[in-house]
Amino acid sequence: MDASLVGRQEEIARVDALLDAARKGQGGALVLRGEPGIGKTSLLRHAERAAGDFLVVRAFGAEFEMELPFAVLHQLCAPLLGDVAALPGPHRKALEIAFGLDTGTPDPFLVGVATLGLLAEASPERPLLCLVDDAQWLDHASARALAFLARRVAGERVALLLSVREPYRLPEFGELPALELKRLSELDARALLAAAIRAPLDERVRDRILAEARGNPLALLELPRSAGLAGMAGGFALPPSVPGVIEQSFRARLELLSPQARLLLT
Ligand SMILES: Nc1ncnc2c1ncn2[C@@H]1O[C@H](COP(=O)(O)OP(=O)(O)OP(=O)(O)O)[C@@H](O)[C@H]1O
Ligand SMILES: [Mg+2]
Repeated sequence: MDASLVGRQEEIARVDALLDAARKGQGGALVLRGEPGIGKTSLLRHAERAAGDFLVVRAFGAEFEMELPFAVLHQLCAPLLGDVAALPGPHRKALEIAFGLDTGTPDPFLVGVATLGLLAEASPERPLLCLVDDAQWLDHASARALAFLARRVAGERVALLLSVREPYRLPEFGELPALELKRLSELDARALLAAAIRAPLDERVRDRILAEARGNPLALLELPRSAGLAGMAGGFALPPSVPGVIEQSFRARLELLSPQARLLLT
């Protein structure tokens, strides 16, 4: 059990079950969904800690690489590319084309099959855990390849754990098992706040932080910082009503709207 994650027992159990099944050769995938700061990356870190007996490969989506086909798949497979030579010729060639080591047009099906072969053979002794954070910024080709893999690892010792920041949606992952990370309960939010702030906290300030953060762990941790601990201990300073962290999350949501919808909101 991961003591550093407050109120996530069920989510941790779900991730641990994914790992247990993969150990037994019943591979699977899980997509973690949730708003900014809700704890997706933290749960990925938990998985990594819990998978001490796995070979772990990681990748993360980046907004500025979204236009680069196979960028994230390349990141994920990079540590395994030494084994490409063992793949059947067409599979090897498909991956080499996808990763820019050969010329030609990549065949998505062959790339998918080749990646599955690469992952399945990567570690004969140990199960394999693939972690993909910030999948909302996956390039389309990688998203498609990962969805292909996720649907075919059932007989392998492979677990795929992905995170997607809401409100983004990836149509490629629509059918995959998903876990929605909800806001923390009032009780858990209080516990997180108490653990984060050791100094005495004025009750009014605490209630205001809890109300503003609405169970978002990042907001619970950041709001006291933005308010300034010294003032809070004496109850003089209340946190700003629209903290940067919340503002940032709303800005991210606004960016997804059409220009007309934004104009309407303005
Ligand atoms: N259940 C929790 N208990 C304690 N701390 C938590 C919990 N969940 C998240 N945190 C802390 O909150 C902060 C934000 O969490 P995290 O980075 O995992 O969010 P995220 O969902 O990945 O956000 P983003 O969409 O911005 O990537 C981190 O400092 C993390 O340690
Ligand atoms: Mg994250």
